[in-house]
Amino acid sequence: MKDLRKNYTKDALLEANLPLQPFALFGDWFADAVEEPLIAEANAMVLSTVNDNSVDSRIVLLKDVRDSHFVFFTNYTSNKGNQLDKNVNCTILFPWIAQERQVIVRGAASKISEQESREYFNSRPKGSQIGAWVSDQSSEISSREDLDAKLDYYLKKFNNEVIPKPNHWGGYEIKPVEIEFWQGRENRLHDRILYYFENGRWSVKRLQP
Ligand SMILES: Cc1cc2nc3c(=O)[nH]c(=O)nc-3n(C[C@H](O)[C@H](O)[C@H](O)COP(=O)(O)O)c2cc1C
Repeated sequence: MKDLRKNYTKDALLEANLPLQPFALFGDWFADAVEEPLIAEANAMVLSTVNDNSVDSRIVLLKDVRDSHFVFFTNYTSNKGNQLDKNVNCTILFPWIAQERQVIVRGAASKISEQESREYFNSRPKGSQIGAWVSDQSSEISSREDLDAKLDYYLKKFNNEVIPKPNHWGGYEIKPVEIEFWQGRENRLHDRILYYFENGRWSVKRLQP
């Protein structure tokens, strides 16, 4: 491991090229990540939440950025859902390593409207819709067979009907207070540009690498 070492030379992030708002830059970088064949899922992000005195992290999928909020969907009674109920502060991290980039968003999460969650749920494939009923996400189950039996139960229950959104499933939107853009540079002297929201507007500062 100690010998694994790469020099980062793909791009630079300089003040002269920065938009006033971070969302335009995020949009550009996201579009680049989608085009990059070495990035399997550009919208996969590591979500970190507070669990009393410790921190939990896991990957979720970004499904929208709208009205300056980052949106993802999950089970509201999962570990992450329970943690966000108690403490709205969270971080999402996009590890776009193939482009020598990382974006870190710090903010507060809140549930989106039932209607918006329902609209997205209705657009999902049937298998994913059933999965949301089957999985009591994050709680223990005694065997794979028990999970498959739950699947059979819900397949029969809904048969060919339209599958309604379960109450325990829906979206969160994260309202950011900080967005940091990291671009790898030579000699480990990377570019780190931090947008922070203060006094009703976004400002920018450069951090040492
Ligand atoms: C590529 C990838 C995408 C994922 N997307 C989601 C997602 O959008 N929503 C979700 O609830 N879990 C997603 N998961 C599963 C989570 O990482 C996690 O296992 C699950 O949400 C339970 O987390 P929790 O117990 O901390 O609440 C994804 C996992 C991977 C590897």
